[in-house]
Amino acid sequence: MEYRRLGSSGLKVSEFSFGAWVTFGSQIEDKTATDCMKLAYDSGINFFDNAEVYANGRAETVMGNIFKKMGWDRTTYVVSSKVFWGGKLPNQRGLSRKHIMEACHAALNRLQVDYLDLYFCHRPDRKTPIEETVRAMTDLVHQGKILYWGTSEWSGESIMEAYNLARRYNLVPPTMEQPQYNLLHRDKVEIEFASLYKEVGLGLTIWSPLASGILTGKYNNGIPKDSRLTQPSLSWLKDSISGEEGEKKLDKVKKLGQLASETGMSLNHLALLWCLNNINVSTVILGASKASQLKDNLGALEHKKLMTGEVIQKINEIMQ
Ligand SMILES: NC(=O)c1ccc[n+]([C@@H]2O[C@H](COP(=O)([O-])OP(=O)(O)OC[C@H]3O[C@@H](n4cnc5c(N)ncnc54)[C@H](OP(=O)(O)O)[C@@H]3O)[C@@H](O)[C@H]2O)c1
Repeated sequence: MEYRRLGSSGLKVSEFSFGAWVTFGSQIEDKTATDCMKLAYDSGINFFDNAEVYANGRAETVMGNIFKKMGWDRTTYVVSSKVFWGGKLPNQRGLSRKHIMEACHAALNRLQVDYLDLYFCHRPDRKTPIEETVRAMTDLVHQGKILYWGTSEWSGESIMEAYNLARRYNLVPPTMEQPQYNLLHRDKVEIEFASLYKEVGLGLTIWSPLASGILTGKYNNGIPKDSRLTQPSLSWLKDSISGEEGEKKLDKVKKLGQLASETGMSLNHLALLWCLNNINVSTVILGASKASQLKDNLGALEHKKLMTGEVIQKINEIMQ
């Protein structure tokens, strides 16, 4: 496992990290979550990603119990939470000072830690001034409750606004953004954010590197039983591979699969290594419903040398 700087900060995150969305406290048993966390940690993963909304807080409770059970030294791992969707009432969601403060305290309790290393604004909140959010995050940093703060799925323009406000008023600027990034979803990271890496030193903790499993090829011939796309709450994912557009997408996935086997690796390895190939990516957050999937995905690191310029070019030709 290699480690990369989180943007221009001094924090080092493992190039692969591990997240709890859909799985912890919901799709998988706590024993499977424990097996995955242990495998991740023993393989050198040092960053674990979570959010207040994952399984309505249960994902953080499960992860907190695992931290406690494992007794890992707090200096050996980085843990995140995200604030935005806490509950249904008006002040239980969004990025107001009130919700940020309350959500942070709740996440600390569930995760059973004294501070969060990374704290993300899970989505932009158009009904709260960005300055209020930047000030609340700055206060949490000064209180030692979070170490770095960032955004998730914000526009480049809003990130710049937060950064400029922080510089103007001597507040703490955002360090990182958490966008979706994979072979099927690239524009935001490659085009919209292009100037932010140098200009503000933005780090990226990218999500859904396998497009929720589509980039393993498991959906090429239908939807397997017990796979993520069978979950009723994720019908938007199922829709993303149906109809004409969906067929075109799966056609590309099949071609990528052929290229992967010609290159001597599996499609999931090719898809993950392609994400790592972008130097602006600080860490690729993996997800898994079984420890065997995580083990398989970690195996990509053994094939780094196969991702040559020629392979990247062939990938781009397929994805055009
Ligand atoms: N900030 C945000 O808005 C946001 C949004 C989404 C995710 N995230 C973060 O990013 C993390 C990773 O995202 P993700 O879970 O969507 O990642 P992903 O790698 O795109 O999808 C993971 C899912 O794909 C399937 N899979 C993975 N490896 C496989 C393999 N080798 N063979 C077959 N199936 C495999 C599994 O689902 P099944 O076995 O159930 O099919 C697994 O749970 C999340 O846990 C979360 O921490 C953040």
